[in-house]
Amino acid sequence: MALLDIHVLGSPILRQDTERVEQITPALRRLVDDMFDTMDKAKGIGLAAPQVGRRERLAVLEVDDTRLVVINPEILVKEGSVRGEEGCLSMPEVYADVNRFARVVVRAQDIDGTWYEVEGHDLLGRCLQHEIDHLHGRMFTDRLSLLKRRAAMREWDYEKAKYPKLLRVLPVGDLPAERDATSSITTP
Ligand code: NI
Repeated sequence: MALLDIHVLGSPILRQDTERVEQITPALRRLVDDMFDTMDKAKGIGLAAPQVGRRERLAVLEVDDTRLVVINPEILVKEGSVRGEEGCLSMPEVYADVNRFARVVVRAQDIDGTWYEVEGHDLLGRCLQHEIDHLHGRMFTDRLSLLKRRAAMREWDYEKAKYPKLLRVLPVGDLPAERDATSSITTP
């Protein structure tokens, strides 16, 4: 297992589109494993590949004890609207209320490349939308009104000074036990 450095807002990769994953290789499985470890260590509920400096179209999530990897995800169904607080591992200490679809159905591939669909509302729905945004260069603050975005960016300008290289290096120590990522991922 390995912890990956997290890119924070200002790092160009967070603003780039990702590339479709065509093949599940051992290196890709290792990346997913490391992303789960990094998300756990950072106490996040979602982490997208661009946040660890990668171009693969994939993200990992853990909501309500359900661990998911979404590879090449697409939103098939979007319904309703709900407002709720969000933060981001790439913008530590900045939180804001964001409008999202109340319910989404997402189609994605799992770590074996098998297509599946997952329905998300509440926190899972919000997290899926947030992570899929990352895969297309979007941050949650992009979805705020102009005034709220300015306020969030003022907070971030202050916080950003803590990351001169635009990288968040997680402290090593009390690492979770070695784990086989493949077996720990649940797909509905
Ligand atoms: Ni995020």
